[in-house]
Amino acid sequence: MTTLLHIDASGRSSRSISRDLSRRFVEAWRARRPEDRVLRRDLVETPPPLMSEAWIAAAFTPPAQRDEAMGAALAWSDAAIAELEAADVIALGAPMYNYGMPAALKAWVDQVIRVGKTFSFDLARGDAPIEPTLSGKRLVVLSARGEFGFRDAGPSAARNHLDPHIETIAPYLGVASADIHTIAVEYQEFGDDRHARSRAVAEAAVDALAARLAGEAAQNGTNSVRAA
Ligand SMILES: Cc1cc2nc3c(=O)[nH]c(=O)nc-3n(C[C@H](O)[C@H](O)[C@H](O)COP(=O)(O)O)c2cc1C
Repeated sequence: MTTLLHIDASGRSSRSISRDLSRRFVEAWRARRPEDRVLRRDLVETPPPLMSEAWIAAAFTPPAQRDEAMGAALAWSDAAIAELEAADVIALGAPMYNYGMPAALKAWVDQVIRVGKTFSFDLARGDAPIEPTLSGKRLVVLSARGEFGFRDAGPSAARNHLDPHIETIAPYLGVASADIHTIAVEYQEFGDDRHARSRAVAEAAVDALAARLAGEAAQNGTNSVRAA
């Protein structure tokens, strides 16, 4: 069995393109592999707590020395990390807000990338003390943008702080760079033919990617989409 973690971060509950794409990916997957498990995290319906003095103090206290209040401060993080650990495939609805990720998604990132859980810190490793703990996951980023040209050498590529940020943190989610798949609809603010075309291309890409990754999961059997 493969476990999907379905995350959304759009502030729109209806008419959200990124939500439509992430739902489309999960539905396409389930149509092929109905026995697989889907964990759900809606970061707008249930927003992650923001960083606090209490959270940071608790996270940097060794688990055996944490008191009840510290345990409570980390409870949301513990639950979100458990979902991440269980996930083989992360389907992430991530709209572009102000050229980066929505605050709700950044808050989730801050909750799940945690010392002693998703990375280790050891000064004995010299100038590279941080090492990711998780591995072997795939990340499918389903995005939407109002403007256009954010990928490759497009005219807005230098203003794209969403995809590079996700690529930078992906190792700490257990995702190697080759296992990040990004599909984005552009031109939302124009609402013209270019937007319609972009959406049609993205939807076809979502269907094809779901078919490919689900097919690989079927080939590999057991609990992973990756070859043993
Ligand atoms: C708060 C906010 C900030 C936005 N910032 C940008 C931006 O910096 N660049 C851009 O191309 N579009 C921007 N947009 C447009 C969204 O990316 C676009 O509406 C997209 O469709 C949102 O995803 P959704 O349809 O899943 O809600 C912004 C929209 C909102 C609501």
